[in-house]
Amino acid sequence: MNNRWERSILAVPACEARKVAKAVASQADAVFLDLEDAVPPDLKEQARADAVRALRELDWGGKTRMVRINGLDTPWAYRDLVEVCEHAGAQLDCVIVPKVGRPEELCFVDILLGQIEARLGLDRRIGVHALVETASGLARVEQLAAATPRLQALSFGPGDFAASVGIPASGIGTEDDWDRAYPGHRWHYPMLRVVVAARASGLRAFDGPAAEFRDLDSFRHLCRIARSLGFDGKWCIHPAQIPVVHEVFSPTEEELAWARRVVSAYEEAQAAGRGAITVDGKMVDAASLRMAQATLARARP
Ligand code: COA
Ligand code: MG
Repeated sequence: MNNRWERSILAVPACEARKVAKAVASQADAVFLDLEDAVPPDLKEQARADAVRALRELDWGGKTRMVRINGLDTPWAYRDLVEVCEHAGAQLDCVIVPKVGRPEELCFVDILLGQIEARLGLDRRIGVHALVETASGLARVEQLAAATPRLQALSFGPGDFAASVGIPASGIGTEDDWDRAYPGHRWHYPMLRVVVAARASGLRAFDGPAAEFRDLDSFRHLCRIARSLGFDGKWCIHPAQIPVVHEVFSPTEEELAWARRVVSAYEEAQAAGRGAITVDGKMVDAASLRMAQATLARARP
């Protein structure tokens, strides 16, 4: 990915040209052309050529350009990497690898991409983003996060995770009666594990898609849950979801003002030889400074 804080990652089936053109022209911070679950088996081969064309010919306007390949347990994955990266590697920022279950899978992608980059003479590395969405992926998430320096981010995929573990759910990332059956937030464990594993390896973390795209209030609630756990952003499957993600995952003016106040108060305190002070009735120390700096780092110009 580029050196910016992506908040929204918009999914679009690579084989649907009209949607691809709209996605690339949208307000999303990142767009991924999907070769995996949104593309039917008989269009898999064609979709690679569509992805190459979209990467080479469309104006992405500074968005992060991503492609989601098929899983490494399918017959399509290696050719997805070879065909897309050989023909559009220079126009591609990052490859999303779905259903990662073992660190070896990411090492395989790393080595293959390295060979393609060498053949193309690329002077920069194509990034990798791993999708944690199976029981085996979550069980090994710390190993996945540390598998290769090429890795930039982890995403949590709620739909496949529910299927893999046997969690009942009425739709991908959709709130339903089962949420009320559990005395707490039933996605807390996998979500927080993914964030912590990502951070422990210096990676970014994204919450996956929510299929119920017409209910933006419910979507906002899901975004707020993800942000409260530390995620950097959330996937979108429909353009209407993008502004909600930007609203929730950007620091508010109030948060920025507080962060600036903490930084200046802490600097003054330090100059006066103090490490802990009171600002607006709250204790502020070096941990508060780090929290404030983290907030300010997310401010957009
Ligand atoms: N990217 C870009 N444009 C999109 C879009 C997307 N993901 N989803 C919808 N649009 C466009 C539609 O093409 C339509 O534009 P048009 O009227 O000019 O053709 C407009 O937004 C409104 O779409 P709407 O009628 O509300 O939805 P739909 O019924 O056409 O599509 C989905 C609904 C869910 C099928 C569609 O949003 C989609 O394909 N999402 C991505 C699916 C995906 O990639 N899944 C895998 C990753 S999780
Ligand atoms: Mg999935």
